[in-house]
Amino acid sequence: MDDNNELKLDLVHLTRLALENQSEDIRLFVARLVRKYRNTDSELAKQMELFLRNAPTRSNNTLRDTAKYSNSPTPLPVDEEMRLSLLKVFKDCPNSEPPLLSNDIKELLCQLIQERKQFRHLATRGLHPTRSAIFVGKPGVGKTLTARWVAAQLGVPLYVLDLTTVMSSLLGKTGNNLRAALNFAKQSPCVLLLDEIDAIAKRRNDDTDIGELKRLVTVVLQEVDDWPATGLLLAATNHPELIDPALWRRFDLIVEFKLPEELAIKEAIKRFSGSDYQNFEKWIEILTFIFKNQSLSDTERTIHRLRRTIALSMNYDRVIEELIKSSASELDRQMKIEFAILLAQQTHFSQRDISDFTGVSRDTIRKYVAQLSTRTSGQHYASKKI
Ligand SMILES: Nc1ncnc2c1ncn2[C@@H]1O[C@H](COP(=O)(O)OP(=O)(O)OP(=O)(O)O)[C@@H](O)[C@H]1O
Ligand SMILES: [Mg+2]
Repeated sequence: MDDNNELKLDLVHLTRLALENQSEDIRLFVARLVRKYRNTDSELAKQMELFLRNAPTRSNNTLRDTAKYSNSPTPLPVDEEMRLSLLKVFKDCPNSEPPLLSNDIKELLCQLIQERKQFRHLATRGLHPTRSAIFVGKPGVGKTLTARWVAAQLGVPLYVLDLTTVMSSLLGKTGNNLRAALNFAKQSPCVLLLDEIDAIAKRRNDDTDIGELKRLVTVVLQEVDDWPATGLLLAATNHPELIDPALWRRFDLIVEFKLPEELAIKEAIKRFSGSDYQNFEKWIEILTFIFKNQSLSDTERTIHRLRRTIALSMNYDRVIEELIKSSASELDRQMKIEFAILLAQQTHFSQRDISDFTGVSRDTIRKYVAQLSTRTSGQHYASKKI
């Protein structure tokens, strides 16, 4: 690209930011220009730097800052046909419990939050914080919960735009709805979550108006591109394979949520069992095995169901026994054997009971347990039976 064209592009970008009143973004952009032109046109760079230095700045936290400056709260946008609110609002307390996540995801999120808290520091180096991120993962692994937690840490509300709901309104109006919601979120200090962003892609396979869908994809692409650094745009999907590669590329950060690790499962059992934990604690290894390969949302649902049953029947052991039986019935052969051995090692159940629960023959259980005890003999074996 020649210098003239590049200058024109800078001018257009600056004009847009100025007209949108995005003063923090203008500062960042000008800081970038100063560095860009320092070598080729030092006079121009100096002049811009001078303006930059003299311009009043806002505080470090741009998101919260905008809240201070906005006079009246703008009403939430509504669907034109149904007058339904397009955005769900969450205002969580910053002290709310953090989601249970693997260390690598925790680190990514901590940096995302720190970047926003140290906006000014980044700006002095011509950098702006991560503007957009996409959360990918199976249902119930904590994508929405994490978006809520991030917003709470930043001291701003989370607005959730469920694209399935937006798209279920008359297709012709979808573009307007989407634009209204996005404009609203751009103007107010918040984190915006585009939930189920794959909904647009899914609809592309229907025989609906292809032209309208293309326009929608374009709207989303533009918005992700132009999202002001003063806001944080998040998206979530269970179907990464359906996301348009052009859209995928545009997110600053991709966060992949996996099924929980053993440590997170143990923490979750503790968290979800609340005051009943003392009754669950002795079964912790068995429960951890049962909840392996499940989302924490499923784990939470099961534990709450158990707690309700226990509250009514007061028979803990019976309730756990039922859970063991029903969980074993869903396992494949190899996992059934593993489960049977774990039960033999960790519980008071007889091999006959374990065989009944798991369908693994007593001979097989005996064989594996004997093998294991030969292997562990000589070692100090400290496992305590329930
Ligand atoms: N990582 C987690 N840490 C703590 N709780 C969790 C976690 N994942 C799920 N949960 C529990 O499950 C509930 C549902 O999780 P959430 O709605 O965040 O899942 P999701 O990934 O957004 O699912 P979906 O793709 O269906 O929207 C949470 O409110 C929380 O109680
Ligand atoms: Mg969700």
